[in-house]
Amino acid sequence: MSDKVRVVFIDNPPVNGLGAAVRTHLMKELERALADEEVEAIVLAGKGKMFSAGADIREFGKKAPPGTPSLPDVIDAVERSTKPVVAAIHGVAAGGGLELALGCHARIASSDARLGLPEVTLGIVPGAGGTQRLPRLIGVREALGLITEGKLIPAPKAHALGILDEIASGDLLSAAASRASGTPLRRTSELPVTDDPSAFAEAEKAAAKSRGFEAPLAAIEAVKAAATLPAEQGFRKEREIFLKLVASDQSKALRRVFFAEREAAKIPDVPPDTNVKEIVSAGVIGCGTMGGGIAMCFANAGIPVVVAESDPSALERGLEKIFGLYESSRSKGRISKDEFERRMTLLSGTADFSRLSQTDIVVEAVFEEMDIKKSVFRDLDSICKPGTILATNTSSLDVNEIAGSTSRPSSVIGTHFFSPANVMKLMECVRGAQTSKETIASVFQLAKRLDKVAVLVGVCDGFVGNRMLYAYRRQADFLLEDGALPHEVDQAVVEFGLPMGPYAMADLAGLDIGWAVRKRQEATRPKPLRYSTIPDRICELGRFGQKTGAGFYRYEKGSRTPVPDPEIASLIEGVSKELGIERRPFTRDEIVERCIYALINEGAKILEEGIALRASDVDLVWIHGFGFPRYRGGPMFYADTVGLKKVYGAVARFHEEQGEWMRPAPLLERLAREGGTFQD
Ligand code: CAA
Ligand code: NAI
Repeated sequence: MSDKVRVVFIDNPPVNGLGAAVRTHLMKELERALADEEVEAIVLAGKGKMFSAGADIREFGKKAPPGTPSLPDVIDAVERSTKPVVAAIHGVAAGGGLELALGCHARIASSDARLGLPEVTLGIVPGAGGTQRLPRLIGVREALGLITEGKLIPAPKAHALGILDEIASGDLLSAAASRASGTPLRRTSELPVTDDPSAFAEAEKAAAKSRGFEAPLAAIEAVKAAATLPAEQGFRKEREIFLKLVASDQSKALRRVFFAEREAAKIPDVPPDTNVKEIVSAGVIGCGTMGGGIAMCFANAGIPVVVAESDPSALERGLEKIFGLYESSRSKGRISKDEFERRMTLLSGTADFSRLSQTDIVVEAVFEEMDIKKSVFRDLDSICKPGTILATNTSSLDVNEIAGSTSRPSSVIGTHFFSPANVMKLMECVRGAQTSKETIASVFQLAKRLDKVAVLVGVCDGFVGNRMLYAYRRQADFLLEDGALPHEVDQAVVEFGLPMGPYAMADLAGLDIGWAVRKRQEATRPKPLRYSTIPDRICELGRFGQKTGAGFYRYEKGSRTPVPDPEIASLIEGVSKELGIERRPFTRDEIVERCIYALINEGAKILEEGIALRASDVDLVWIHGFGFPRYRGGPMFYADTVGLKKVYGAVARFHEEQGEWMRPAPLLERLAREGGTFQD
């Protein structure tokens, strides 16, 4: 490479975060290159895995050492440089990393690089000129799409859009160096930008659907500033919005979730060097709602999977459903024809369980009955080769009892997928008393391949997700008895940010399964505890939810839209009357408090019992399993933002009013007293 081109590296493993030290280094190196008469052009590149993942998120909210240049200062200096600066991008250029590249006079990337401005996913907007430079480079409409969605795009697409000037065909640094010499000083912030009112209107309409999530709307406001204000004012406006959002609870929550997702895979007594079984092939037992979805997860990840089913018609129905789902993805262009065929080839069904003998993992998804599960595991124990991981998708049963029916309890683990399994990100990994570290590490690695978020949980009824769901649903049912109606409860929690209220969700899932469980448990149910008969009475009317056209709501023929039903309102009012409860109206805030604080209180009990390793794991279960708003950080983080003293006070009041179910968790009581948080 010619001495006339100076390569300045960003060198801050693992992701070249643009922390204070890096910014100081870049500024100094730029000044040195500018002062050196031998140097005619500069290439900016990243050491290691990537160009740069952007600002160092860990430094947000912390004061930089005095004299440290801000990222906008560095980018301005790059853009104003009197010698051409070219960004040589490999791996990833995200957030501030891409903003730095946008300040360069040209950008060149390897063909497998990915670029984007994911700041909204952290509850902020690009704060170093991204919202001002990108629309000048690629137009308002495309910039709005990239900035409000926050996705990384592949280099060829970035090239087609005009973000990149070139895709390097050979060595990236050499290509960047040859481009740098003599490249014109094209300063992005000086390019003209044209307003596009219809693009703004469409983006605002899409962002309005995000139920209280502020960042996408704020990002639109920043891009609008680029399109309508003089450049200097636009840049100032962006920075103002950025600084306001960085300090917001939403951004704090989203940053925390970002790190929580990475921390969940770190299990204190399962070190990173634990031996991991390679999963080359998989089996699934049961081709019902869950088994079919789980089989799809394997095929989607390129892992051959055999589904074994005892009922030939269920197998046929299940395979047809899978085919239908893949066919619909293909016809909508979400997967290519080749990919469709590849997945269909990877997936096969059988009635012959011996075909599972050589698979590396088998996930059981048969009926939720202990005797059936135990018999399936006994069979698997005799059929499968030594070392096969035997996983159960049970949503509530005792994994230790299931493991006890085999001669290899160390290979048994719960892998609790959420419905629909091919869509929902969460996998609760249930650790039995004898589950080996190798089994845990292998299942966590598998989860990554399946694009799932794995969270380790312990054995108890309902594990983390469903156990908390029971507590939440119970409170919702008591609210009905006390004066609310199903659509009022649903509306309140949807406005809080959940995708669906408990009753629309119950109607969707079907009311008959829970009813059957309650009937089985009736003899052993502790009678002094408050129990709502409303769900049972609805089932007695043959209303099982959407599948029967009526449940907590009624449904027009062929429609899935819940319509409040006067018949249910009078049933509920009748129950209140029988109980001697004087119904009263509830505000949205009261409803949210009763339901969400019940979640929090149960979450605290779960933490105390060691069923979850950390509060952030509980949060991930609710974010990825139930759609709890990510920007609220999950129930436990939300509790911290509300203040545990306030949460405890309310829970203690509910306990007095309603009795034992709402007894405050001792952990909540202690933290409230000590001024602590769940995060601690
Ligand atoms: N700051 C600090 N740490 C970061 C980071 C960042 N921007 N990005 C990643 N890390 C850390 C991770 O926490 C992880 O740490 P541990 O090993 O201790 O768990 C480590 O770097 C590796 O990260 P991943 O496991 O995520 O690595 P990956 O190879 O799977 O993914 C990536 C790489 C796609 C870049 C991904 O890390 C990512 O999406 N990072 C965030 C990108 C982002 O949101 N950038 C915007 C930052 S905000 C900004 O730039 C504001 C501005 O406008 C000035
Ligand atoms: P399902 O009733 O839709 O499917 C079960 C399938 O297993 C049926 O097709 C049945 O024929 C088959 N089967 C029964 N016994 C068998 C045996 N001995 N060998 C082979 N196949 C057998 O049930 P679903 O909903 O898929 O649930 C399966 C498991 O997943 C249960 O343990 C359930 O608790 C759990 N689960 C269910 C969720 C849901 O939303 N439906 C969510 C998460 C977990």
